[in-house]
Amino acid sequence: MSDASEMKRLAGEKAAEYVEDGMVVGLGTGSTVFFTILKLGERVREGLNIVGIPTSKATEKLALEQGISLGNLAEHPRIDITIDGADEVDPELNLIKGMGGALLREKVVASVSEKMIIVVDDSKIVETLGTKSALPVEVVPFALSSCIAELEKLCDEVMTRKTDGQIYVTDNGSNIVDCLFSGIPDPEKLENILSRMPGAIENGLFLGLATLAIVGTPEGVKVYQKPI
Ligand code: A5P
Repeated sequence: MSDASEMKRLAGEKAAEYVEDGMVVGLGTGSTVFFTILKLGERVREGLNIVGIPTSKATEKLALEQGISLGNLAEHPRIDITIDGADEVDPELNLIKGMGGALLREKVVASVSEKMIIVVDDSKIVETLGTKSALPVEVVPFALSSCIAELEKLCDEVMTRKTDGQIYVTDNGSNIVDCLFSGIPDPEKLENILSRMPGAIENGLFLGLATLAIVGTPEGVKVYQKPI
């Protein structure tokens, strides 16, 4: 296992310790929360009783393979705890998410969660959002060109996300525009602008949602509450 993967494993497995019997658990998406889901699977096989709410088809598949019972938001409108990865974490625990493409469902799940634990390796820690990662914006296909034109006015560079040369399609049937900034000094202001953009159905700014960050570092796991 590479050093980065080992740090992800440390953080991901630690987060599973915060899950208690009887909880409804939001299950994030990505290569760090992957380790949380494996650990939760182990605990379920030892008798832990939880219901998972998956944030993507990939997570749904993994959780079912691990024997974790799944539910949906209609049955469980409130979630006790969500565990998810991130692409950037700032000192206030504001986040950029969505490089894995699951930002819309991740934000819905985070918004109805009592607690949101973020699991990352220490390369994801930044002073200012938008300095390392692109900011993903999910748009309906009909509005892809108009959203690109608007986003070009806001950031340094925009890229329509593609896989194997084809425009990427999310679990919701929409597309993603990745926006490069040289730092986002006022994330609230940007989020307001993006949420008013016709056809842009979600963006990767997760502000005020995370309650705890578990960070895998070469020295072991570090746990941060706001402020970092
Ligand atoms: C999924 O859409 C993302 O928000 C992921 O949570 C984020 O990209 C972190 O993924 P990794 O843990 O794979 O870095």
